Amino acid sequence: MSGPNNDYDPVEVTPLKAEEVEAARDAALAAVAAAGDLDELKQARLDHAGDRSPLALANREIGALPPQARKEAGQRIGQARGAVNKAIAARQTVLEAEHEERMLVTETVDVTLPTTRRRRGSRHPLTMQSELIADIFVAMGWEIAEGPLVEAEWLNFDALNLGPDHPARTMQDTFWTEPAENHVVLRTQTSPVQARTMLTRRPPIYIACPGRVFRTDEYDATHSPMFHQVEGLVIDEGISMAHLKGALDHFAARLFGEGIGTRFRPSYFPFTEPSAEVDLLCFVCRGEDSDSCRTCKGEGWIEWGGCGVVNPRVLVACGVDPEVYSGFAFGMGVDRSFMFRHELEDLRPLFEGDVRFASAFGTEI
Ligand code: DAH
Repeated sequence: MSGPNNDYDPVEVTPLKAEEVEAARDAALAAVAAAGDLDELKQARLDHAGDRSPLALANREIGALPPQARKEAGQRIGQARGAVNKAIAARQTVLEAEHEERMLVTETVDVTLPTTRRRRGSRHPLTMQSELIADIFVAMGWEIAEGPLVEAEWLNFDALNLGPDHPARTMQDTFWTEPAENHVVLRTQTSPVQARTMLTRRPPIYIACPGRVFRTDEYDATHSPMFHQVEGLVIDEGISMAHLKGALDHFAARLFGEGIGTRFRPSYFPFTEPSAEVDLLCFVCRGEDSDSCRTCKGEGWIEWGGCGVVNPRVLVACGVDPEVYSGFAFGMGVDRSFMFRHELEDLRPLFEGDVRFASAFGTEI
């Protein structure tokens, strides 16, 4: 067994010679200075300051020196390694700054360049509003009913007590289809859906019917030959005008805001008796400062639609026993409601299909 080699006292270890250390340091500094980017600097660091670099290997040899030589060699190596590390850090700062600057230039995006991206479509604001209206009634437990746009004359007029001599039946208002003896019209109102519903189902009936209607009106800022209405019909036992008022007040508040109610003015519709025009409390001035209000034009109220207690003649025509059941009905313009909800003075953009108009209402798919 051999004991510790206490006599071992080499005078020199080659890698620790001053010239060797200087050469290693200079090679390291040269490599650092030559590093043109961060990757090259990383490689230089591995080669010249890493665990297997000449200076690191030399450092390990220090322990093998005789005590008197250790201090000097330690200093020499320490200084060389210090100089190399400092140079690496300085070069790192410079290269990082350069890198960042290059990124700013090469990754610049010219936001003014024309794009090939397709515009997103928009749902039509009237579709959205019709759905909103439908939701209000569905939330009350009503059903949504629909009917055809091309309708039998009898359902559009006769069943609703609009007799053959009623002015609305003249050629002025109604689009008739050919041949005339078929008695088919483009529906002039959503009211035939009332007749269709009563004819096909037993009461109780609680329906709302938003839909498209047609009249031979000139196309201008406030008229269109095609527009939209929403119809309401309730048939049940013991239904009165008071229920009608309650339902319309609720509808108005949901669509136009809390506190917006309705008022009735006596009127005439063949399918209701008594009948009323419904006005909506102006949701802009709330009737308080109406003189300067553009929305209600100083009235404090906005004309909204028609309503009434269903005429017993209509019930009989549609097979409902007026001795047992009574009901109410109402109808109003969806486009008109949209116009005043959004302070639109011309309804034509609603029908002209410009997607910018639809997008302006934020109605994205
Ligand atoms: N159909 C009527 C119109 O187009 C509106 C209307 C009025 C509908 C009174 C109703 C109603 O259901 O009761 O002018």
